[in-house]
Amino acid sequence: MSQQAPCTASPRNRRAAVVGLGARAQLFTDALAGPYADRIELVGFCDVNSHRMAVHNDWLAAAHPGRTPVPAYAAEDFDEMLRRERVDLVVVTTVDRTHDDYIVRALEAGCDVVTEKPMTTDADKARRILEAQRRTGHEVRVAFNYRYNPAHSAVRELIAAGEIGEIGSVHFEWLLDLRHGADYFRRWHRDKANSGGLMVHKSTHHFDLVNWWLDSRPETVYAQGGLFFYGDEAGGRRGLARNYARAHGSPAAQDDPFAVHLTDSSVLTSLYLDAEHEDGYHRDQNVFAPGVTIEDDMAVLVRYASGATLTYHLTAYAPWEGYRIAFNGSEGRIELLVEESTWTRPRARTNGSDPVLHGTEVGDEAGRTELLVRRFWEPPREIKVATGEGGHGGGDVRMLADLFGERPTAPDPLRRAADGVAGARSLVTGLAANRSFGTGMPVVVREVLDV
Ligand SMILES: NC(=O)c1ccc[n+]([C@@H]2O[C@H](COP(=O)([O-])OP(=O)(O)OC[C@H]3O[C@@H](n4cnc5c(N)ncnc54)[C@H](O)[C@@H]3O)[C@@H](O)[C@H]2O)c1
Repeated sequence: MSQQAPCTASPRNRRAAVVGLGARAQLFTDALAGPYADRIELVGFCDVNSHRMAVHNDWLAAAHPGRTPVPAYAAEDFDEMLRRERVDLVVVTTVDRTHDDYIVRALEAGCDVVTEKPMTTDADKARRILEAQRRTGHEVRVAFNYRYNPAHSAVRELIAAGEIGEIGSVHFEWLLDLRHGADYFRRWHRDKANSGGLMVHKSTHHFDLVNWWLDSRPETVYAQGGLFFYGDEAGGRRGLARNYARAHGSPAAQDDPFAVHLTDSSVLTSLYLDAEHEDGYHRDQNVFAPGVTIEDDMAVLVRYASGATLTYHLTAYAPWEGYRIAFNGSEGRIELLVEESTWTRPRARTNGSDPVLHGTEVGDEAGRTELLVRRFWEPPREIKVATGEGGHGGGDVRMLADLFGERPTAPDPLRRAADGVAGARSLVTGLAANRSFGTGMPVVVREVLDV
């Protein structure tokens, strides 16, 4: 039961608040203040850092001259914001370890929730969210943008149509390059307590895709992983480590190809450098400094309820960024190659945030997408898919339409909308893998979280 009276807004005039006004929040604030403004009113910001909220308001004012600033609330005033602004939809884009708290409080206040991935970082928090969702009857949607990427939707269609018969196994390798991969070692993600490690923070996307593609759930997980490349020990041993804690103001960081320089990007300057006096959040830590408790190289073997197996590898220190997936079926094979970037430039100076952290907008690094169906006894058939339509292979813009646009009258045949159960199921493989890293033993998934 809700602890507060549900908000009174009609479905055509919803009132949304965003909690966690960092980099990712901009996708949602731009959408809510722009194409979806006639359906959903953006009525509140909430963050521990008031400067970051002010920056988001500046960006909205620049994009929509004359717009009144969105009321900004301190984190301790979250419940007050929901009441006072009569919020009925909360978008959660905070640091991962805090998602559960905002999701549960929003549900209990009578709101629906859109949360960024990972839905949360451990099994107890996932149980709390699922229990609150059941108890309140309100909706949790997990922002799995990769389901909406046209290449991934095409794979789902091909498998569901039986193009390669029954799936026996999946082979999935994901590479994060030296710029984007390193970024998880520069800030809060480097502490497993904040992010659950890359098995949770990053692989939640990939395990969700496999669950969705196979329409099945993981049952057994065995994994090996470690810190091979980043961190003080490995960096020191290979002579990569420089002597500084954070790059800004450190001469030793000037020629470090692994450093990010906040002044290289106006977005990084305003959102982080100019905001750090409030909370001491250093966005530019040395990837080879002590304190890294997450892995950078992870191998996972999963058995699904359908009988299919998955071999999965995540590498966070690759020369290029992208992924290869192969599905072995009883009538053939599907292969997907996505090169998001073909190499990594040491220091991409720019005025925007993306190429500094993520190389996809730098022309000569741009890669390609290839989707092949190889049915038995037939030549390979290439499936053309739309590319280059914004973030995450065009997934972001399609996901926003599904989250905030007109609800379609017919159900989505691809069933791309991910609820709390899908969010939890995407977590269990990574949580079980983390346990397997520690014990060296296979893990029965339902002993971690029965979902
Ligand atoms: N789906 C995707 O492709 C994708 C891409 C990037 C980020 N994300 C997700 O978005 C979320 C935010 O990531 P980001 O890169 O914007 O991080 P960020 O560090 O830029 O922003 C996090 C924000 O949360 C705020 N915050 C921290 N603790 C808080 C608390 N207790 N209460 C309220 N606010 C708090 C910080 O002040 C900051 O403004 C993460 O969960 C991340 O996994 C998803």
